Amino acid sequence: MKVSTSILSAKDNLKETIDKLNNTSTDYIHLDIMDGRFVENTTWTSDELRGVLINNTKPLDVHLMVRDVKSYVDSFARLNPEYITFHYEAIDDIDEMINYIKSLGIKVGISIKPNTKIEEIYRYLPKVDLVLVMSVNPGMGGQEFILGTQIKVNGLKEYKLNNNLDYLISVDGGINSDTIKLIRSADIAVSGSFIIKNNYEESINTLRG
Ligand code: DX5
Ligand code: ZN
Repeated sequence: MKVSTSILSAKDNLKETIDKLNNTSTDYIHLDIMDGRFVENTTWTSDELRGVLINNTKPLDVHLMVRDVKSYVDSFARLNPEYITFHYEAIDDIDEMINYIKSLGIKVGISIKPNTKIEEIYRYLPKVDLVLVMSVNPGMGGQEFILGTQIKVNGLKEYKLNNNLDYLISVDGGINSDTIKLIRSADIAVSGSFIIKNNYEESINTLRG
């Protein structure tokens, strides 16, 4: 299992956190981008992040929790991320956005909120590189993992195998040494506070399994 470390809970000493993460085995750095509209909180602009990412060599996993997806894609594409993931619930023309992100040479992810059923995104799964299953309601770190999320993860895994698809399944929110056991069928675990508030490398290795 790969690990994507969210820096959301490192709000102030961001550069120090990113530089420290570059000395760990985290597979990705997860950037939670919030616009204050799709979710209440706001986080960073790409210009703010460019500065603190100056020494970064880890692949970037951008999670857009925004309503105006296209303008944020244009802005964060400048950071050369490996993934840009947007929310199924944020826009109407999903196919167009998937194609647009791919046209920029960036892998595309689609994310679903806890109360969105996996069946609602089946039609997009042949086209995306990643599905980000939210195990908390998007908008803040440090929340409790929503039990039952593992059923969605297992359902997406089954659908992938039954239809010979190759999207990665990523789970995001409330992931720690206990809840990780519930989602071992996923490909990527996104974790913020469990890693940032403890020994980074030890926590990452605990999640990797
Ligand atoms: C929540 C974010 C998550 C969150 C994870 O809206 O998408 O990435 O920061 O943080 P923890 O692991 O603390 O739930
Ligand atoms: Zn996230």
